[in-house]
Amino acid sequence: MKGIILAGGNGTRLHPITIPITKQLLPVYDKPMVYYPLATLLQAGVDDILLISTKRDLPGFKALLGNGSRWGIKMRYAVQPKPEGIAQALLIAEKFMAGGPAWLILGDNIFFGYGLPDILRRIPSETRGAAVFSYYVSNPRGYGVVELSAGGLPISIEEKPASPKSNYAVTGIYYYGSDAASMVRKLKPSARGELEITDLNRMYMKQGRLLVRQLGRGVAWLDTGTPDSLASATEFVRIVESRQGLKVACIEEVAYRAGLISRSDFSKLAAAYASTPYGEYLRRMDREWR
Ligand code: G1P
Repeated sequence: MKGIILAGGNGTRLHPITIPITKQLLPVYDKPMVYYPLATLLQAGVDDILLISTKRDLPGFKALLGNGSRWGIKMRYAVQPKPEGIAQALLIAEKFMAGGPAWLILGDNIFFGYGLPDILRRIPSETRGAAVFSYYVSNPRGYGVVELSAGGLPISIEEKPASPKSNYAVTGIYYYGSDAASMVRKLKPSARGELEITDLNRMYMKQGRLLVRQLGRGVAWLDTGTPDSLASATEFVRIVESRQGLKVACIEEVAYRAGLISRSDFSKLAAAYASTPYGEYLRRMDREWR
C-alpha cells in the first residue's frame, strides 16, 4: 500500500523556531515529529512512501529517513515548490500513485490509540472513493469541520468555519482512491490561493463517495501547530512513555510488528543504535523478545 506524507508549509505559527528548520523535523519529546505520522502509515499497512516537502527541507528528511530499506519500506521524495494547498500533494503524487489508491497524512499530525491500526487497515475495502476521520474537539474552528446525519453520513464539510455546524474536526489523515488527481484537477484555488483538501472532500461527499470514520475517545489526536500545542504533545508522549516504559512511534518496533522487518533485522538495528534512550529502548525490546 502507498502513502504520502506532506511535510511542507511555512510553519509561521512557530516562528522563530521554524525560520531555519521545518516544523516536521522538530522534536516531539524523544524523536522527530515526522516519526509519528510515519508510524501511523506503517500501522495502516503502508510500505511505499512519498514524502513531499520544500526544496530547502528535503535534504533533512533524506538524512533522517534515507531510502527506508532499514525499516523494510521504500521512501521516495518530491518537492512542493510553493505551499499551494494540501490537495496539491495528490497532483505531485500522481505518478507515484500510478493509478492506485494511497493514504495521505500531514507531517504534523500525531495519532495514538488503541485499535487505530485495525480501523485504518479496514478502510480500503470500505470506501468507493475517499475516507476521512472525524474527531470530537472542544474548539473546531481551526479545522475542517464535518456535519453528520443521524446515520453517520456526511452532510456538510467546511474549512475553518466561523460558526461550526458540529464539534467534529476532520483530522489530517486521508485515504483516496485511484481518481484522486483527476478530482483535484476539478478544484479551483480558494480565497487564500490554495487547493483545499476540504473542497476535495466535499466533492467526494456530493458524489456519495466520502466515508467518514469517527475516531473515538480511546484515540488521541494531537496538534503541534503552536508553541503550546507542541509542548503539550511532547508532554503527552513523555508521560505515556515513562509510565508504560513503551515507546510511541518507535519506527523500528512498528516496522517489526507490521512484519516489514525480521526479528534478526530488528536485532541488528538495535545493536547498531547510538547510546541514547531511544537506542537503549531498542536493545531492551530486543532482550525482552528473546
Ligand atoms: C489542515 C486542513 C484541515 C484539517 C487540519 C488537520 O489545516 O486544512 O481541514 O482539519 O489540517 O490537522 P491546517 O492545520 O493545515 O491549517
